[in-house]
Amino acid sequence: MENKSITILGIESSCDDTSASIIQDGYILSNIIANQDVHQKYGGVVPELASRAHQQNIIPVVDKAIKDAGIKKEDIDAVAFTRGPGLLGSLLVGVSFAKSFALAQNIPIIEVNHMQGHILAHFIKEKTNENHSPDFPFLCLTVSGGHTQIVKVNDYLSFELLGETIDDAAGEAFDKSAKILGLPYPGGPLIDKYAKEGNKTAFTFGKPKVKELDFSFSGLKTSILYTIQKQQKLNPKFIEENLNDLCASIQHSIVTILIEKIVKASEQTGISQIAIAGGVSANSSLRNSLKELENTHSLKTYIPPFSYCTDNAGMIAITGHFKYLKKEFCHQGVTPKSRMAI
Ligand code: KG4
Ligand code: ZN
Repeated sequence: MENKSITILGIESSCDDTSASIIQDGYILSNIIANQDVHQKYGGVVPELASRAHQQNIIPVVDKAIKDAGIKKEDIDAVAFTRGPGLLGSLLVGVSFAKSFALAQNIPIIEVNHMQGHILAHFIKEKTNENHSPDFPFLCLTVSGGHTQIVKVNDYLSFELLGETIDDAAGEAFDKSAKILGLPYPGGPLIDKYAKEGNKTAFTFGKPKVKELDFSFSGLKTSILYTIQKQQKLNPKFIEENLNDLCASIQHSIVTILIEKIVKASEQTGISQIAIAGGVSANSSLRNSLKELENTHSLKTYIPPFSYCTDNAGMIAITGHFKYLKKEFCHQGVTPKSRMAI
């Protein structure tokens, strides 16, 4: 008798992207993301507007995910949703939708920790591509707009936090620096773009001193701000005339901090498999610097495809797949959590 496939609908709504994905037996069939442009003019995510946009987007996004996957809603075995961490109003939309859908279809629901999702994105399989996932244990540098963590991953659902930021996240460091430069939100991808034409050693900024495997980025932001304010007094067009060099130098500072700590974590644990995850892992300099560690430190590195770096429901659906195998379902009374340990 043929084994029945496992089909999971994943829902992600923790911040400003509404996303739905279908994963069947670990293979991704669809991954639909609706971005919210409404926040751009405010220079950051406005929670009230995010919740409203999720409410508008969720049904069409899920509908498209099911259609593009070429399945019927009756084929879905369970709904996995992001329980947290994230913005409460945003999470509520996804959690409520997941519960209602599951009730209507009479299928179980699976809660997913967004940060675990980012890490497990490494295990999403694609029918068209060769799959390349880390073996256990491995270290994962998870860098997003809200988090910066070094996690020891022992198994699909076994995580140990080794270090994290004590103030801003790496993505925030990119976005806040971009804001100082007058770039629109989110500035991370723009810094990456302009840095390609700049000199990374043109400017140097203060380096944080933080114990063990923790990070700090708030001092860097202040150092960037002071450098720019000082230079602008001498030349009001300083930013305009030095934008590429400023972006390259800022990016170099952030990436150096991240790489130094991941090397330290590898030395301390003796683990030589290193992965990156989260929105900032889309950064080209971080990707290149990590790859270089293969030659300079004999490490084996894993970098997810761009589409699985930033928030997406594929990562939630794959985590749901592993939890489904262990029958880790939750009850209908589950509520979202804005803070959630890994
Ligand atoms: O994981 P993510 O999509 O959302 C959160 O869970 O926070 O990460 C978003 C963050 C933003 O701070 C954004 O500026 C940053 O990832 N980001 C980048 C790049 N692409 C996205 N930062 C630097 N370079 C990039 N190419
Ligand atoms: Zn994220």
